[in-house]
Amino acid sequence: MTPKISAAITAIGGYVPDDKLTNFDLEKMVETNDEWIRTRTGIEERRILKGEGKATSDMVVPAVQQLLAKRGISAEEIDCLIVGTVTPDMVFPSTANIACDKLGAKNAWGFDLAAACSGFVYALTTGAALIESGRYKKVVVAGADKMSAIIDYTDRATCIIFGDGCGAVLLEPDEEGFGVKDSILRSDGSGGKYLHMKAGGSLKPASIETVTNKEHFAYQEGQAVFKFAVKGMADVSAELLERNNLTGEDISWLVPHQANKRIIDATADRMGLSHDKVMLNIQRYGNTTAGTIPLCLWEWEKQLKKGDNIVLAAFGGGFTWGATLIKWAYNS
Ligand code: UT7
Repeated sequence: MTPKISAAITAIGGYVPDDKLTNFDLEKMVETNDEWIRTRTGIEERRILKGEGKATSDMVVPAVQQLLAKRGISAEEIDCLIVGTVTPDMVFPSTANIACDKLGAKNAWGFDLAAACSGFVYALTTGAALIESGRYKKVVVAGADKMSAIIDYTDRATCIIFGDGCGAVLLEPDEEGFGVKDSILRSDGSGGKYLHMKAGGSLKPASIETVTNKEHFAYQEGQAVFKFAVKGMADVSAELLERNNLTGEDISWLVPHQANKRIIDATADRMGLSHDKVMLNIQRYGNTTAGTIPLCLWEWEKQLKKGDNIVLAAFGGGFTWGATLIKWAYNS
């Protein structure tokens, strides 16, 4: 019998810009304060990609270069690059196309996947399916967002939350049962009204009016999103455990989307997971949208052990949400 091929993560790379935007900086920009931001969200500072001509692909490229160096392979060996993002360099061509060109990934095809904060779990599931099909051997999945490009820094409801960053993983075939084991992905487009960007798409192309009305910035009704996020992320994570006959005790790490520490705590509690098994770097990076989950994996890589059961969980604009179970494939 031919063993089933699974998609194992075999290397991780990450990139966060050097420039920091702290809660104290924000106090000077909008009516807010460090204490409110820390207690309501858990965030202390975020990174901002500055500089003329710098875009999301400029974070994807160093993250991917780092994972290639760790794995000891060249960009030409990449078969496909999937970039989860809602802040692509341009509407088209895709950020994946642009990044492949900058990387010299001459043999790769690729595309962007827009699922907001669930971008990485959606892209990972998609990339894993390409590996499981047997057709591709090296698929890179990145989660990258330059949220500062779509944030109104006079709107305290959004500017305190978001930051810029990128994480990327390499997927390769595994025949010993390591890698992506299961994934539950969901969406509900009726939630779009609570979190979206009003203009710049085919519905409302850019005009002087859309710019004047600040319709090219992220719009969020925080409280409504919060309620759906707490339920969605916790429900799907619990369902994933149940259908794999696992309990919180079997899980080594929860890797949650970093939107709000209170949402993360609720998900961990629902899974019966002690909080020391939860990756949390929201205090340093804020919400980097598709970047949060792979940036956690990147920072915790050395603590991950071969055979660990890891659950990734996300909730975001769309609404989109999901959870993925991984059996970790290597010790670093
Ligand atoms: O990543 C993808 C999905 N996004 C999320 O998951 C985000 C989900 N939502 C949230 O994380 C939270 O809703 C926020 C952090 C955005 C807001 O926190 P909240 O606890 O829901 O605050 P709120 O909007 O209910 O506002 C509470 C109070 C209000 O004052 P009053 O009416 O009680 O006097 C706001 O005006 O806090 C006030 N407020 C602020 N105060 C200082 C709202 N924003 C701020 C602020 N600084 N930045």
